[in-house]
Amino acid sequence: MNKSIKVFAPATIANVTCGFDILGLAIDQPGDEVEMHIKDTPGVELTEITGDQGLLPTDPKKNTVSAVVLDYLQKTGHQDIGVNIHLHKRMPIGSGLGSSAASTVAGLHAINQLMENPLPQKELLPFALAGEELACGQGHADNVAPALLGGFVLIRSYQPLDVIPLPTPEELVATVIHPQIEIQTRDARKILRKQVTLEDAVRQWGNIAGLVSGLYRKDYDLLGRSMDDQLIEPSRAILIPEFAILKQKALHMGALGFGISGSGPSVFALSRGKETAAQIQQALKQHLLTVDIESDTYISQVNTEGPKTLSSNF
Ligand code: HSE
Repeated sequence: MNKSIKVFAPATIANVTCGFDILGLAIDQPGDEVEMHIKDTPGVELTEITGDQGLLPTDPKKNTVSAVVLDYLQKTGHQDIGVNIHLHKRMPIGSGLGSSAASTVAGLHAINQLMENPLPQKELLPFALAGEELACGQGHADNVAPALLGGFVLIRSYQPLDVIPLPTPEELVATVIHPQIEIQTRDARKILRKQVTLEDAVRQWGNIAGLVSGLYRKDYDLLGRSMDDQLIEPSRAILIPEFAILKQKALHMGALGFGISGSGPSVFALSRGKETAAQIQQALKQHLLTVDIESDTYISQVNTEGPKTLSSNF
């Protein structure tokens, strides 16, 4: 019988306020699933995509999942292997939750398992980054790294790539609100200021260092104080309906911090414990309904596992 595997990979919150392009964390849900079957003939086939409303490319060279699997097979000397891929989108596209990263990471984890793990997880990162470049026009690792490694991740440097897993305080819970509008990362990057003042830079790196210290010290108040972004949020908040009110409500209800997830439109709050997270979820969803905006909402602890094999046959 031909080998097959089914893998889940998690959504991610990139930037985590002050860490534009250098910080990200994985959440338990939502996420994407990839099913992969070894076939008798070489080559990568994208047999089925579900849940994408026809939005994703079906050409195996243009779809990020098949493209990274093809790249993986070529670079690891397995050109003779062939696979069929079924991609099940279980999360919204263009949501700021690392949709392309979740698919890419699920695909890479699946092929690496099918090949019986020749590459350690960290070595899958360059493949995943190339997939992001295909999807967004630029390769940022702040979604793919946490999706692949789980937990909080710092990208200390891109050249050379230096990715540092960070600790996760256990009581941290994320509330994610995805208002049903779409923003493409490449568009949300075009509106950003290209230069910053020294004063703003000082404030930003103080906050980044504070956030990282807060994770190591399990200091929830420090985490909250550090979740402040003066560089990116002011430009992007205008793209997100009711942003200022959502933020004010979340903080008022006890969120440690609140911000835009990746390039939006999803927003997120981090709280200490599930109860506060659930109250925030309820209040923000309710508020968006008063202005006729539907939203998907998720509550999740930080996912420290990364991609997960759901079933396998080999
Ligand atoms: N850090 C990216 C951005 C998003 O904010 O544009 C995801 O990689």
